[in-house]
Amino acid sequence: MNLIIHPDAASAANAAAAMMAQALAAHPRLVLGLATGGTVEPVYARLVELHRQHSLDFSRCRTFNLDEYVGLPAHHRNSYRHFMNERLFLQVNLELANTHLPDGTAPDLSAECLRYESEIAASGGIDLQLLGIGQNGHIGFNEPGAELDSRTHVQTLSATTRAQNSRLFTAPDQMPAQAITMGLGTIRDCRQCLLLATGREKAGIIRQTLTSAPTPAIPATVLHEHPDCTVILDAAAASQLEGLQLPGVALLTNQWK
Ligand code: GLP
Repeated sequence: MNLIIHPDAASAANAAAAMMAQALAAHPRLVLGLATGGTVEPVYARLVELHRQHSLDFSRCRTFNLDEYVGLPAHHRNSYRHFMNERLFLQVNLELANTHLPDGTAPDLSAECLRYESEIAASGGIDLQLLGIGQNGHIGFNEPGAELDSRTHVQTLSATTRAQNSRLFTAPDQMPAQAITMGLGTIRDCRQCLLLATGREKAGIIRQTLTSAPTPAIPATVLHEHPDCTVILDAAAASQLEGLQLPGVALLTNQWK
């Protein structure tokens, strides 16, 4: 696992966007794995800027998002499809037909999970997967206790995640209790992973993730098993790492001090 620390959230997000943009420029038919959440919003803003100012070309790129709420139609303002359309897909020259999220309104959710896995496989697999992290260590919506080799499945959301995400709903009790998420095995199969975490509220879970061996109790620890994973932090998210031994973690850049 490679670790890069930036002084602030903006430069950390720009570094994540730069990695994605370089990969896309080198391989225009890149299969990008995408994430939602406040942390990645500035990454998408930067990618839009790179498209408008530097002609970053998304026309042949294909995308797969990590997850989607069960029961929210695409047009719902809190659906992840809506988030992605607004923040990235409709702002760049991506073909909407090349953008994929699980369908949380599918009548048969188990069949939808299998369909999503097949669609990823048919695309040749995900080249570069962007990840955020929940305060309980979830990646995608793989909550603590998740199987480390799980595939796309329906996940019941934990009380922590409901508390963390319900603030984004106009009526917090409208937040769905379940989501479809790529599994930890699906994420581990991506050729490259890029985890971005910013802010002091992520410092504790980042310390636990980077210091713990893979365990279902902290789903993000599965990334220790990944052969090509980069973690980008800002100084606030890295603030509990000082003086710690981080086995298997190579500190590439530290622009903290
Ligand atoms: C949601 C997403 C996760 C994301 C998390 C972090 O729960 N399903 O993929 O990592 O939010 O959110 P934020 O970046 O807002 O802290």
